[in-house]
Amino acid sequence: MTQRIFISRKLPDEVIAPLKENYDVKMWDKEDRPIPYEELVKEVKDADALLTTLSENVNKELLTAGNKLKIVANMAVGYDNVDISSAKDLGITITNTPDVLTESTADLAFALLLATARRMIEASEYVKNGDWKSWSPLLLAGHDVHRKTIGIVGMGSIGKVVAKRATGFDMNILYYNRSRKQDAEDELGAKYVDFDELLAQSDFIVCLTPLTEETKDMFTREAFKKMKQTAVFVNASRGPVVNEKDLYDALVSGEIAGAGLDVFVNEPIDADHPLLKLKQVVAMPHIGSATGETRNKMMKLCVENIEAVLSNKKAITPVF
Ligand code: DGY
Repeated sequence: MTQRIFISRKLPDEVIAPLKENYDVKMWDKEDRPIPYEELVKEVKDADALLTTLSENVNKELLTAGNKLKIVANMAVGYDNVDISSAKDLGITITNTPDVLTESTADLAFALLLATARRMIEASEYVKNGDWKSWSPLLLAGHDVHRKTIGIVGMGSIGKVVAKRATGFDMNILYYNRSRKQDAEDELGAKYVDFDELLAQSDFIVCLTPLTEETKDMFTREAFKKMKQTAVFVNASRGPVVNEKDLYDALVSGEIAGAGLDVFVNEPIDADHPLLKLKQVVAMPHIGSATGETRNKMMKLCVENIEAVLSNKKAITPVF
């Protein structure tokens, strides 16, 4: 019997064409919104493979909705939306999309740092709104980036590329990670410090750590209080790593200078969220890896992982 694949978001036809040659492929076809959870559960009942995005909650109920599921190919490097321990118990392969998105995500993290430090979004709005009446000495003056100290929290592959970008700005590079990264130290001159020292010494704190039990709520009021008052905080990992109420309070009370955020606790974040009312916050809709080239590579990698597992070969990028 032909194996069945369900794809939870609308992907371009040319990307899924190779799957259609050998499998029965069904795809959620609404471009503008994710599949409702209940519908996804129904679709999984007779699926052999599932292609998901980070918007789907791949929990135990979903993984056990049918009895044929062999692989969930999650189109993201992060897989905090997947119940890994249940997948392991059930013998279901979970794959992610590492490496292919590293450079693009690092570019966005660095762009967010620059945009926040140099108030670029605010400045653009200023021009577009017709507020620009004259050049003036301190008009929209931000913070220098070059030769400052960047503190990278989570020195994985994306962290290393952000550090590489920072060398081009002659920055002093500090990092905090579960383990020392000798290659980042040798090749990029990054210095390992403990979390508190990173917070105290850095002008730019860039969070790139995966979301786990240990990193959830890592950035609390206490952490923001340890930062410089001129510090800019950038988050391009996952929203729940930050306590958003504490971040808001730190920003309004001037404990830190600004925040560049690509990720939020609830996505999409409500347009009325207090953080979005602050001019010192630059907010992006989780677009770290969003370039046409990279998103195509991510989709292709998901397709290849599914093809491998459904033809009894090893997955290319299994997470365990
Ligand atoms: C990821 O891959 O985990 C990003 O957050 C989305 O591209």
